[in-house]
Amino acid sequence: MNKQRNMLLEMTVFAAFIFCLCYLLWNVNFYSPKKTGKATAPDYASTLKDENLEKGRLLFRSYCNSCHYPDANGLGPPLAGSRQRWENAGSFKGKTGDQWLKAWIRNWKDVVAAGYPYGVMMARSRENEMNYFINLTDQQIDLILNYVDSAPKATSENSRRSR
Ligand code: HEC
Repeated sequence: MNKQRNMLLEMTVFAAFIFCLCYLLWNVNFYSPKKTGKATAPDYASTLKDENLEKGRLLFRSYCNSCHYPDANGLGPPLAGSRQRWENAGSFKGKTGDQWLKAWIRNWKDVVAAGYPYGVMMARSRENEMNYFINLTDQQIDLILNYVDSAPKATSENSRRSR
């Protein structure tokens, strides 16, 4: 009688143990990746965003920062918001404002020669002339423009010519 009861107890404990083990394995192997997946997805996106801003910052520093700040006057005008300004300036001869802006950055004289009114006005706005950047790709230009639009107000790019 006693022996039987002991065996019953052992079996119950064993079953409970197996149950716990399955429960743990199930949780660890199946649910955790999903849970962490949810948590890491936004982190990954923001890391990517940070990386792109850093790429934009470096391009800006190498090519533009000698004349421009994101948010202050240099030899050239502040660049923050320039994408919006060119978009607002609108389409012309079958190209969008954004396409004219990219053309300007590669070779502003093309834009003036084509007669795009905003570009003509821009070229007359200052005594200094902008350099040509014919080798910059659309993607690189977008990285620069995204950077200047999100650059914090008080970066050294804003307040000093260079570091
Ligand atoms: C040698 C100085 C110089 C450099 C370097 C330079 N720019 Fe400029 N940029 C100017 C000047 C000056 C103007 C104003 C137009 C004019 O007077 O011809 C201007 C105007 C602009 C405008 C028009 C701004 C607006 O509000 O619409 C954009 C956009 C621009 N530059 C982007 C860039 C980018 C991007 C770079 C780097 C890849 C760059 N510039 C490098 C001098 C420079």
